[in-house]
Formats: sequence, structure tokens, C-alpha cells
Amino acid sequence: MSKITITSMEKMGCMLTSFLLLSIVLTSNAQLVKKTYIIQMDKSAMPNTFSNHLEWYSSKVQSVLSKSVESEMDNEDRIIYTYQTAFHGLAAKLSQEEAEKLESSQGVVAIFPETKYELHTTRSPTFLGLETLHHHSTNKIWSKNLVDHDVIVGVLDTGIWPESESFNDTGLREVPSHWKGACETGRGFRKNHCNKKIVGARIFYHGYEAATGKFDDQTDYKSPRDQDGHGTHTAATVAGSPVHGANLQGYAYGTARGMAPGARIAAYKVCWTGGCFSSDILSAVDKAVADGVNVLSISLGGGVSSYYHDSLSVAAFGAMEKGVFVSCSAGNAGPDPASLTNVSPWITTVGASTMDRDFPAYVKLGNGTKITGVSLYKGKNMLQFKKQYPLIYMGSSSTSPDPRSLCLEGTLDPKKVSGKIVICDRGISPRVQKGQVVKNAGGSGMILTNTAANGEELVADCHLIPAVAIGEKEGKELKNYVLTSKKATASLAFLNTRLGIRPSPVVAAFSSRGPNFLTLEILKPDVVAPGVNILAAWSGVIGPSSLPTDNRRVKFNILSGTSMSCPHVSGIAALLKSKHPEWSPAAIKSALMTTAYVHDNTIKPLRDASTAETSTPYDHGAGHINPTRALDPGLVYDIEPKDYFDFLCTQKLTPTQLAVFGKNRTCNHSLASPGDLNYPAISVVFPEKKSISSLTIHRTATNVGPPVSKYHVIVSPFKGAFLKVVPDTLNFTRKYQKLSYKIIFTSKSRPAEPEFGGLVWKDGVHKVRSPIVITYMAPI
Ligand SMILES: *[C@@H]1O[C@H](CO)[C@@H](O)[C@H](O)[C@H]1NC(C)=O
Ligand SMILES: *[C@@H]1O[C@H](CO)[C@@H](O)[C@H](O)[C@H]1NC(C)=O
Ligand SMILES: *[C@@H]1O[C@H](CO)[C@@H](O)[C@H](O)[C@H]1NC(C)=O
Ligand SMILES: *[C@@H]1O[C@H](CO)[C@@H](O)[C@H](O)[C@H]1NC(C)=O
Ligand SMILES: *[C@@H]1O[C@H](CO)[C@@H](O)[C@H](O)[C@H]1NC(C)=O
Repeated sequence: MSKITITSMEKMGCMLTSFLLLSIVLTSNAQLVKKTYIIQMDKSAMPNTFSNHLEWYSSKVQSVLSKSVESEMDNEDRIIYTYQTAFHGLAAKLSQEEAEKLESSQGVVAIFPETKYELHTTRSPTFLGLETLHHHSTNKIWSKNLVDHDVIVGVLDTGIWPESESFNDTGLREVPSHWKGACETGRGFRKNHCNKKIVGARIFYHGYEAATGKFDDQTDYKSPRDQDGHGTHTAATVAGSPVHGANLQGYAYGTARGMAPGARIAAYKVCWTGGCFSSDILSAVDKAVADGVNVLSISLGGGVSSYYHDSLSVAAFGAMEKGVFVSCSAGNAGPDPASLTNVSPWITTVGASTMDRDFPAYVKLGNGTKITGVSLYKGKNMLQFKKQYPLIYMGSSSTSPDPRSLCLEGTLDPKKVSGKIVICDRGISPRVQKGQVVKNAGGSGMILTNTAANGEELVADCHLIPAVAIGEKEGKELKNYVLTSKKATASLAFLNTRLGIRPSPVVAAFSSRGPNFLTLEILKPDVVAPGVNILAAWSGVIGPSSLPTDNRRVKFNILSGTSMSCPHVSGIAALLKSKHPEWSPAAIKSALMTTAYVHDNTIKPLRDASTAETSTPYDHGAGHINPTRALDPGLVYDIEPKDYFDFLCTQKLTPTQLAVFGKNRTCNHSLASPGDLNYPAISVVFPEKKSISSLTIHRTATNVGPPVSKYHVIVSPFKGAFLKVVPDTLNFTRKYQKLSYKIIFTSKSRPAEPEFGGLVWKDGVHKVRSPIVITYMAPI
């Protein structure tokens, strides 16, 4: 997984370098290599000699341009964006020298170099997967008044395929009058492609264009039309209208619908064939907030950098200040610890888990043993139990350097594999790509085995060849059979869709894990939601495997990734917003977190697919979302923009770095500890100092249930610390009343490993649960 990411980044780097070299050759006087910089401005610092901000920004840029022979024309082109809602400033093409000059200029708050983000599907790198939107848990909340509302969700992604039945607007009210967005047109996208479901569509490509060179309208639709499929899939997951009989070549047959079928979608296309660029993403967030979205769904991420250095984090802060709920994917870098992205506390960070649906397939060995796996293969050439094919594995347990490189392009000799079922190990190249390689070499089928990284987690794919994915343990058994048999044979069989899988949900192996190393006291991810084998609408110009050689066209596709779990949460947030328009983004997040469940359908604690053991809050955050209960959480932990700022004051930022989050604010109300942010999850860290044996954190609960409510607290026991909650009852007498409590942690011993548990406030109807993590630093 990481290998392929690096490979594609390297490719990108090469493209970038060759473009820059080219431009140097072409531009006679170009000692300047220009890159895009995002420049945050203090809008209140504009001297009154300027009549508007754009004029001021232009003059700022003018003032640092090298006095070379560059034409006026060129200078005019330097500014590619101005930002004015969630963020204030501009993006401009500058040389490093010019950018440095600007950094020290009056009115400039911060400068961010352009960075590249990636979509969080498992498809391209390694995790192509699948799921359905038919959610038993959400059926109950399908009442009329929830379908009839004006909540608008902005989806930052690869665009949208407007012809999909999921975007049929029959039965929806007129476009809400508060909506100020637009329907931008271009190749393959006309005004009438927007409707009462797709209320807005915009494109953002200046940063992409500046970074990669000429925009090719033949490679990319220079319009909101989605040729990738990812954006159509995520938008439909958020708010797709119900479509009966949806399926992928017969798999996952049923009704596909978004989490909030009454909500409206605004598509903001920020990802292109060459990637997603921060100046474009920032402009999309800024525009979306100005357009009037209520929720932003962002299924992409870059690396992790400090709060003030991450432009998406800064833009999300601005969106949150305007009351917009921002949901982001946690990343697909699991099960490695500390692999999360998008960890700012004002963002809802969503991990992925499985559903109770599977796509079983079998491998039957020549000696009669049957191995269970999964597949989404459908074709004329369905292998059957009847016929056994020779089975071949090109690696051996001891000699092969890296078995994951066995079925890469150009590695299979047709003389050896023709007519056989080939065993390939997962990793390095996309799973469907390995199937393609086996097919090209004349293989009859493929068995894809997990490596230790994926354990027993099975992700089904729409392969171009009969193929079954099996777990690591089964893979070992299979390879052992091949290596110890004179004449190893196997057959494959495909059994379509199976429901009621137990246990489920299970935290996906690929879902990025905590701890949140930016701030240990802020537990991340926040929640997990379905992100494995998700069925949703698809683009009409690309096959379900996304391979260029795939000529199949499907209306729905099955994908996996935290890219798929994020829009589930965005959609549920839209439902909460429709029922409780006055709730802040933090209140919505609190409702999602405190009602999440941490048990699977076998009533055992949620498991981790990578180990098959119990998962921890580092894997699942507060737990699995529970939409029905989230509508009526009883209490919420609310947080205002100034509270997040007070939290930032604990993060050792310089005044300049803090200014990124509000020039106006000062740290005179800094929290005593970052753990005192009124977060719905609790994470405390006993520092190295041995003398510190007691810590106290504070929380304030707001009553959103019945006016007169009496809650009492229950806390799970910990080996290393004793917990006391004061007071241990909360007696509310009116709605929106706030009552505070504190938790005193007294250390008993200092276990080496963090400890996990929870705190629950109960009133007999509601259970308001916060996960608790205690980390004990080794004493010095
Ligand atoms: C939208 O759905 C309605 C009701 O199901 C149906 O009559 C209509 O044909 C659909 N529109 C399109 C463009 O498919
Ligand atoms: C078939 O071979 C596998 C691998 O060597 C072995 O685990 C299994 O027990 C064998 N099955 C039978 C029925 O002999
Ligand atoms: C800064 O604070 C002043 C006074 O509290 C307020 O009027 C002004 O709107 C604030 N500016 C910003 C950018 O928040
Ligand atoms: C904190 O700072 C703000 C803004 O500078 C100021 O208005 C306020 O009076 C200060 N509060 C205290 C308690 O010093
Ligand atoms: C809440 O009410 C109960 C009795 O119903 C009482 O025992 C308890 O002390 C009260 N809690 C607080 C914090 O006042």
C-alpha cells in the first residue's frame, strides 16, 4: 500500500519536474521556478487606500514580483484564487524568493505551499472493495418530515455523474431559497444536469493546472462530470434517492439509497487525474461555505502536519466557525498505529468498519478441502466445482524475496501459467490489476491471498477474471498444499451475496488507527461507519475495476475505504441537522459519538479485522454510528469556536501560528490542559513526572432531552487509576441547561500500555457514553 503510494507520487514528481524543466527552457528569462502558494491574509489589516480586498492582494503580489522582464500580463496571471469566507487570502504562483518576501509583508498571516491530497478509497493503491446503502438501522428514521428538508451537503470529490438514478429529484421540494451556489457547465455538463437533488456543481482546477501544466480537457472533463466514479459514489452515499433493484452485476441486489435521501447535494470537483491540490480544496471549502452548505463531506487527505500548517484543517476551522459540520475520512493506512489523517478536533474523523453482508466464494482443492473467500466476479466463464484446474504458486515459503511482487506487470510467464489458476499475494499493485496480469498471461483464474498486513479481512473485487480473495491463514494452507502436492489442482465457485454475517461490524484492517500523535488528549478517530464493500452509484465512463482495460459499464459499484465511511457520517449529520437545525457542528458530532455502539451483532465487543481480537478506541473511536439513537442523544457536549481556540492555546503555537485561527483572539482563556476541551471522548495522559499522581478534567453537558431529566454516572474500572466523577448525578430542570462535572484520575500503578474504558450518563432512557483512554508515560 505505502509502496504504491510512493510510486505514484514519484511518477507525479517526475511529471512535475519535467514540466518545470520544460517551462524553464521555454521561458527565456525564467530563473524563477514558480509554484503555488496559499497566502492567508488578515482581512482587517487592509489599508483604507484600497477599495476592495482583491485590489489589496494584487498590490501585495505586485510588490514582491522580481523586477525582471516579465510582462504585466504574466503578473496578472499570478493570482489563481482569492478566498473570502472560510479562509481569507489568496493563492498565487510565486517563486520561492517571492514567497519569502511576501511572508514578512504586513497583513500576511501565513503562507502554505501547495500540497497534494489523495482520495481515501482503497481502489487505486490496494484496497479496492465494496458495500450497500441498504441499512437496516436507518429504516426507522425514514419518516416524512426527515425526507422533507433543506439541508445541503457539499461533497468535495471527483465530480458527479448526473444521469445516475440516485440523483433523481422526483418528490423533492424546490431548491432552498438560502442556497447561493451555482451550476457550472463545461464538457458533458449542462445547466439542466443540476436539479432539485444536485443543487450545485462547481469545479476547482487552477492549482491542479499550475502544478501539472496544461489542463487537458480530453483527459479530464473540465466540468463537474465525474469520470472517476469516486465522487458519484460518495455523493450517492450521502444523499442518493432510493433506487430499487440496484446491484453490481447481480451482487448486493437491493435498494440503494443515501443516508439522507431528502438532503441536497452540491458537488465540488477538486480531484483530477493528477490528484487533488490544496489550493483547489481550500477554494472549494471557501465557496461551499459562502454558497450555504450545512455539511461538508471530504473523503480525502494528505499527510499529517500541525494544526496551523495543514490548509484543510485551517479551512475546516473557518467552516466550523460558520456553523458547517465537516466530516473527513480517517485514512486507509491501518492497521499501523498513529496512521490517522484529518485529526483536528473541529473535524469529525471517520474510520471504516464492515457490514453484515458478504460475497462468498470458494476454492475447492484437488484433495477435497474447501477454502472460503470472497469475490465479485461475474462472467460467462464462471469456473465451477466440477472442473479442477492446475494450481500454481510462483513463490515458495523460503526463497522468494517479496511474494507481493509475484503478479506484477510483466512477471508472469505465459508458458508457465496458461490454463492454470494462479496464486498471488496481495500488495504493491491494485488487486484487480493482479487479476488483469494473470488474465493477460493466459491464466484461467486467480486466488489472491492476504499477507500479514491484512490478516483475515477480505475485500471483494469486481475482477476481470475468475478470482477469489482469501485470508492469510487460508493462504498459508493453500500454498502448503501446492508445495507438497505433485499435482495440485483447484476449482473456484461464486455464491453471490450473503447477509447476516456474524460478527459484524468489525473494524476494517485498512482503517487508519490512533493514537492521535498531534495531541494525545484528543482521541481519534471519532467514530467508525460502514466502509467495506459499499454499493453506490458509479460513473458511466469507467468500468467497475477502474482499470482502463475494463470495458464493462455498470450503474452501481462496490468500493471500500474510509472514503466510503465518511459520506455515511456526512449523511447522518445532515439528518441530525434537519431534525435539530439549531445544533452546532460540535453538538452533532457529540450526538454521533455518545450514542455510538461498541458491540457487534454477537453482543461481544467490536473486533479488529487485522487481529480478530477486541478493538480499542484507537481503532473505533467512540464506536460505530447509531443513527436512530443519535437523533435523540439526551445530552450533548457542545463546543464553540472560541473553545477550540482556547484548546489551540495549549498546543505550544507561536502567536504567528495561532493567528491562522483568528487574528482577533488572544490566549487569555487558555484551557488548563488540552484534555479540558469539552470533547465527547476523554483521553488523559499521566506525564513522566512521577510526582503527578492526580489529574482532573472538566466537561459540560447540555440537556437536549426532556426539560426535567436526572442522570447518574457509571464509570468502568481501570487497573492503573481510580476515577471519581463529581458530581455523580446531573439534575436538569430545563432544555439547553448546561451542567458541569469533573473527573479526578488518581494513579494507582502505571501500566506500560494505555488503558481503555468508558463513562456513561444514564437517565433511564438515554445512555450518553464517552470512551476513556488513559496513557501512562514511563516515569523518568
Ligand atoms: C425519477 O423517478 C420517477 C419516480 O420513480 C420516475 O417516474 C422517473 O422516470 C425518474 N426519472 C428519471 C430521469 O429516471
Ligand atoms: C489438503 O491439503 C491441505 C494442505 O496441505 C491440508 O491442510 C488438508 O488437510 C488436506 N485435505 C485433505 C482432505 O487431505
Ligand atoms: C474582532 O473583534 C472585534 C471586537 O470584538 C469585532 O468587532 C470584529 O468583528 C472581530 N473581527 C474578526 C475578524 O473576528
Ligand atoms: C481576553 O482578550 C480579549 C481580546 O483581546 C479581551 O477582549 C478580553 O477582555 C480579555 N479577557 C480577559 C479576562 O483578560
Ligand atoms: C439530584 O437529585 C437526586 C435526588 O433525585 C439527589 O440525590 C442528588 O444529590 C441530586 N444531585 C445534585 C448534583 O444536586
